[in-house]
Amino acid sequence: MLEHLQAVPPDPILGVLAAYNQDPNPNKIDLGVGVYKDEEGRTPILPSVLSAERELLERQTSKSYLGPTGVTGFNEAISRLIFGADSPALNESRIRTVQTPGGTGALRVAAEVIRTANPDARVWFSDPTWANHTAIFPAGGLQSGTYPYFDPDSNGLRFDAMMEALGQLGPNDAVLLHACCHNPCGVSPDESQWREIAELAGQRGFLPVIDMAYQGFERGLDDDNLAIRVFAEQCPELIVASSCSKNFAMYRDRVGAISVLASSAQKAADIETVIHSLTRKNYSMPPAHGPAVIDIILHDDALTAQWRAEVGDMRDRINGLRAGLVARIAASGVERDFSFLERQAGMFSFLGLTVDQVQKLREQFSIYTVNSARINIASLNQANLDYFVSGLKSVLEG
Ligand code: LMR
Repeated sequence: MLEHLQAVPPDPILGVLAAYNQDPNPNKIDLGVGVYKDEEGRTPILPSVLSAERELLERQTSKSYLGPTGVTGFNEAISRLIFGADSPALNESRIRTVQTPGGTGALRVAAEVIRTANPDARVWFSDPTWANHTAIFPAGGLQSGTYPYFDPDSNGLRFDAMMEALGQLGPNDAVLLHACCHNPCGVSPDESQWREIAELAGQRGFLPVIDMAYQGFERGLDDDNLAIRVFAEQCPELIVASSCSKNFAMYRDRVGAISVLASSAQKAADIETVIHSLTRKNYSMPPAHGPAVIDIILHDDALTAQWRAEVGDMRDRINGLRAGLVARIAASGVERDFSFLERQAGMFSFLGLTVDQVQKLREQFSIYTVNSARINIASLNQANLDYFVSGLKSVLEG
């Protein structure tokens, strides 16, 4: 039976990392996968996470099963973090959060929850979106489509076209939105635009599904959940898939959560049983280590303050790199205007290169980006910035 299987091409993002790892060039730069790196090019364990891990080691007395809900303290703390501690829906017990293996796991569970609720539902992605979105939701049994989002001419948002497309949708549709730091384009709606989108969702009755993988990396931990708060005001139902990979730098521990806002406390409780039943058939129950660490951090004022400062440092460094990159590109004599990089936020932006130019960057300079010319700004540093800019200038002029 298995002989019928054919090899599949590498993942468009993880494949870049594999190619980079094999390149012997000492000047190589990996601008592919979205992992934060510090000025020395490392992805260190956050000191707040290390402290909590030490405490967990002392405290933990058993590794017996926790059950489908996982670490309940983590689930409660994440609900507060992503909806806001003063969320009316939280006080009405209309929100249930269940930890998942990473944000990817949350998205896959979200797809299955939607398919269970309505097998004919269609999910709509921004054009463009994270490459894995378009794989996860069909794998979860849903049909999909796209709505206009990024304008490569202005490097901004196609807001009117987006609203027109979303205005055609209704109760059989789910719309996937990026809460902040849009992956791959770095462009987010502003506050009044979020409010308009949320009002439209309330009027048309489509289900908002919000992917929040970068909370803290755009405007700050307390501001980056703006979209979620606004949708929670306007819509009776909402799904959030959140990730702790980036803001706790716990990439390999696979920590994420699915949160569901329902029309009543009873309905939220019912939906949680659906989630448990779906995950039981998949991975049985979620892993405990990462959420147990975050549970400790978010229930300790000093560790929470330390972690908040660490997230602020990562955000500030990325913003500094964006500014530095714009200045160095302009100073290098490149004619094209790259000032948009400073108006965008988070790890990612598009360089606006052709696939040929992306290949040249790779082959001639060992600079690795995703084929769409998405770069991870957080992989740049003072030591590689000039090399990167000279490579960029060369392929733009070549
Ligand atoms: C990315 O877009 O690079 C990250 O979200 C990591 C991944 O798994 O693709």
